[in-house]
Amino acid sequence: MDNKIVKIFDTTLRDGEQSPGASMNMEEKIQIALQLEKLRVDIIEAGFAAASPGDFEAIHNIAKEVKDSTVCSLARALSRDIKAAGDAIAPAKHKRIHTFIATSPIHMKYKLQMTPDQVIQKAVEAVTYAKTFTDDVEFSCEDAGRSEMPFLKEILDAVIAAGATTLNIPDTVGYTMPEEMGAMISNLHAFVGNRAIISVHCHNDLGLATANSLASVKNGARQVECTVNGLGERAGNAAMEEIVMALKTRSDYFEGIDTRINTREIYPASRLVANITGIVPQPNKAIVGKNAFAHESGIHQDGVLKHQETYEIMKAEDIGLTDANTIVLGKLSGRHAFKEKIESLGYKLTEEELNQSFARFKLLADKKKEIFDDDLRAIITDEIVQVPKIYELVNLQINDCMNGVPSAAMSIRHNDEEITDAGIGNGTMDAIFKTIDRISGIQGELKDYKVTAVTQGKDALAKVTVKVRFDPALSAFTGHGLSIDTMIASARAYISALNAYVYESENRSKRDRGGI
Ligand code: KIV
Ligand code: ZN
Repeated sequence: MDNKIVKIFDTTLRDGEQSPGASMNMEEKIQIALQLEKLRVDIIEAGFAAASPGDFEAIHNIAKEVKDSTVCSLARALSRDIKAAGDAIAPAKHKRIHTFIATSPIHMKYKLQMTPDQVIQKAVEAVTYAKTFTDDVEFSCEDAGRSEMPFLKEILDAVIAAGATTLNIPDTVGYTMPEEMGAMISNLHAFVGNRAIISVHCHNDLGLATANSLASVKNGARQVECTVNGLGERAGNAAMEEIVMALKTRSDYFEGIDTRINTREIYPASRLVANITGIVPQPNKAIVGKNAFAHESGIHQDGVLKHQETYEIMKAEDIGLTDANTIVLGKLSGRHAFKEKIESLGYKLTEEELNQSFARFKLLADKKKEIFDDDLRAIITDEIVQVPKIYELVNLQINDCMNGVPSAAMSIRHNDEEITDAGIGNGTMDAIFKTIDRISGIQGELKDYKVTAVTQGKDALAKVTVKVRFDPALSAFTGHGLSIDTMIASARAYISALNAYVYESENRSKRDRGGI
C-alpha cells in the first residue's frame, strides 16, 4: 500500500441519498456513478442493496457500467443483506461489501438489544459470509465515536481474523471533536498496524465532519468516506471536495499525503449532483459554492488583480471552474459550436442525446439572452437522465387571475396519444397538478416543492423539484423540471415524478411475474 495515498470512498449514492429530499432514480444514479469514476474516486458506495428492489437494480447496473472504481454495497450484519449486496455487485470488475453493526453501549443496549459478545459474533459471521462473495470486505463499527476503546479493539481484532480488509470508524452522530478523533485513530492505527486499512466516516452535526476526517488522516487513516457537496443523513457527511482540496492545498502540513482524485472534475460533479438532487450548495459553501472564488470587496479585488495569491489559496481552474460564469452560447450558435462546448464541459453524448439537447438549447436560446455553462449542464442532465418519458407535457395554459378561480389547461402526450384537459385548483400550481392527475387518472399527493434558479438574471432557468406520493404503500417519488417559466418547470417536475412512479410500478409487476 502506498502510505501517502488516502482512498476516497464516495457515499453520495448511499448516505448522500439519505439526505431529506435527495432520492434519485436509477438513470440519475448511473450518471452520478460515471461522473464519480471520472473523478477517479477509489470506491463508489452505490447503495444499500437490501433496502429495496430499486436500490438493488441501481447497484447492479452501476456494477455493470463502472470499470475503474470499486463498486460497493452496504449491508447490515445480516445474511439476507449480505446476500443481496453480493448479488448486486456481482458484475463489477472491482467489488466490495461494506457491512456494519453498532458498537456503542447506547446503540447495543437500546437499538440492537444485544450483548457486546453477541455483537462480536454477528460481526464475525457477517464478515465471514461477505468473504464468500468478494475478498474486499469493509467492516464498520457504527457509532464508533461513542464506543469504548477496549471494545472497539476487541471487535476489530475479531473481524480482522475473519478477513475484513478495511475497518471503518464512523462518527455516526457527529459528536466527536477533531482532537478526540485524531487521538482515537492514532490509537487504533497503532493497534491495527498493517493488518487492515483504517477508514473514517464523519457526520457534520456540529460542522466538524471535514476537520474530523482530516485529523484522522493526520493520525493514520488511509480511507475517507465522504459525499459530493457534503450531502448525507441529517447535517450531512464530510464533503469530498473539502477533503481533497485541503490535502492538495496543505500538502506541506499533510507531508505529501494526497488522493488520486482528478480535481478538475470536482465542479462538474458538484453541479451534476445539485442538478439531480435539487439540493444546491449554499453560496458560501467551501470550494463549490457560487461565491467560493468571487471577490466582492474592493481591497480584495485590488489585491487579486495585483497578485492572485494575495487572497486566493487555490486556483478556480483546479476544481474545473474555468469559465462557468462567462456567456457561452447564444441564439445564433450552431450545432457544431454547441457540440464543441458540450465536449469541453466533459460530456460524451450519443447522436440522439446531442440532437435532443441541441433542440432544447435552441428553444431556450430563443427566450434567454445569455446562456451560461451551468444552464447547459442543467439542460443536459434534464435531457439524458430522465426515466422513459411515459407522459410528456406538450402544452400548458394557465389562468391565474387574482379574483377568479385559478385554472390550467394542458395537453400531455401518452403512448403517442395527445390528451387535452383542464382543471381548477386552490392556486395555479394546485390547478396544474390536479389537471395532470385528471389526465393520467393517477392521484398524487404533493409532499415537497422546491424552486431554484440555475444561473443569475431575470430570465434565469427555474429548476423545480417535487416529491409526490402516488401510492400510500410506496414512498414518495422525486421529479425535476426545468424551464424559464416556473409554472412549466413545475408541471414538468410533477410529470417527471409521475413517470418515475409508473416506471417503477411497471418494473415491479414485471419482477413479481419473474420477468427480471
Ligand atoms: O453513519 C454511519 O455510521 C454510517 C454507517 C453505515 C457507516 O453511515
Ligand atoms: Zn453515515
